[in-house]
Amino acid sequence: MGTTPKYIVIDSASGKIDRRIFSEQAVYDDEMEKIFGRAWLMIGHESLVPAADDFLHTYMGEDPVILTRDEHGRLHALLNMCRHRGNRVCRVDDGNAKRFMCSYHGWTYHNDGTLEYVPGESEAYYGALDKPSHGLIAARTETYAGIVFATWAKDAPSLETYLGDARWYLDTVFNRRDGGMQALGPMKWIEPVNWKTLVDNCSDNYHVPTSHLASARVQTRWLGRPALSHEDQFASPNRHAFVNGHSITFRDADDNLPRYVHGVSKETFGLFQEYHEATIPEVERRLGTFRARRVQLGNHSLFPNGILGLRLALPRGPLKTEFWHFVLVDRDAPEELKRVIRIGSQANNGAAGMFEQDDVDNWRQVTAASTSCLGRRHPQDLSMGLGHAGPHPDYPGLVSKRYISENNQRLFYRRWEEFMNAGSWADIPLDPIKARFDGTATMRG
Ligand code: FES
Ligand SMILES: [Fe+2]
Repeated sequence: MGTTPKYIVIDSASGKIDRRIFSEQAVYDDEMEKIFGRAWLMIGHESLVPAADDFLHTYMGEDPVILTRDEHGRLHALLNMCRHRGNRVCRVDDGNAKRFMCSYHGWTYHNDGTLEYVPGESEAYYGALDKPSHGLIAARTETYAGIVFATWAKDAPSLETYLGDARWYLDTVFNRRDGGMQALGPMKWIEPVNWKTLVDNCSDNYHVPTSHLASARVQTRWLGRPALSHEDQFASPNRHAFVNGHSITFRDADDNLPRYVHGVSKETFGLFQEYHEATIPEVERRLGTFRARRVQLGNHSLFPNGILGLRLALPRGPLKTEFWHFVLVDRDAPEELKRVIRIGSQANNGAAGMFEQDDVDNWRQVTAASTSCLGRRHPQDLSMGLGHAGPHPDYPGLVSKRYISENNQRLFYRRWEEFMNAGSWADIPLDPIKARFDGTATMRG
């Protein structure tokens, strides 16, 4: 472009990052336009609107959006803003409706967004209102394995290109079964934290033996989980990969054990192992043997704010984030297994979750430090593992040499800069899809 980029916030050589991006209103306002106004955003799951005329009220950044399924089964993401003066046309969380009537003056929209009825169309407007151009503002929508994404950007690439080779890893959780997944929830709550801090935490396993020591000890004592230690982490064969803007952590193991999720305990382990063994032939058919047996997705984030499975981190100002925590389960899993996963998730993640409370306290303090004049003179340090990541013959993306690394965090803020400095999608680099997607699973499930 030839001009100096507006945002240079991370120093590649030192990993130092400017704290002002976590607290300044002007930066936040730019984020709403340059990131949340143009990226593909996770907004829901097909299982939350399974039938014709179902809808779910959700958000894209700060903007209220109605995710609808019309009578033909098509999905729409519609800005919840009446085209007359701007009143919200939908005031409930979810339901089933063919139309949305604005409660201010009565303009009425079909659930595909078309403006169908205007009181006084011929009398008050003298037939001069151009109804077809006053439908609800629609975002582009696409799905990946049942997860619904939307973008406001007409020039955005396809969702498949946007996810890129991250999907190679994501499939190992979201695309395992022919019957797909089912979303339960959400649990919603608000925290005084900047949205980026918790996104970068998705690849921060360094904190686990320290922050979660007490919670982990409870789990070791009562649930039979192995004890946590830094030594084990540094020696771990698990890995981090950064792929096309998305942060992945994964377990590389060929031990025929099920992926660890909250809900696994010494009492329930048999249930998980039995399910794993019963379904692995199907998973191998869908994903190929290598991914089915050797790759278990861990914590991860999809740029910008899709985290840990189906969890939305919705920005509510520079110093506030609204969390929507869904639990995703295989639709055809035994009901008892779904129950155990749901309860395990609530015990550990979510407003009252043991692990969540440990995390939130850290994020609050990190956010608060960014509001301090003195604190802002001293940048955050993200130097861990600088120069110790690169391509790997077996795994797509930029793979860190050790499990414990800040490579993904550095690259997340680099991706943030790319979005914030771009004039349009043409300026945002995209890694080509290079991974081999063995098996029958596709974007559509
Ligand atoms: S604001 Fe909706 S009908 Fe007037
Ligand atoms: Fe944590």
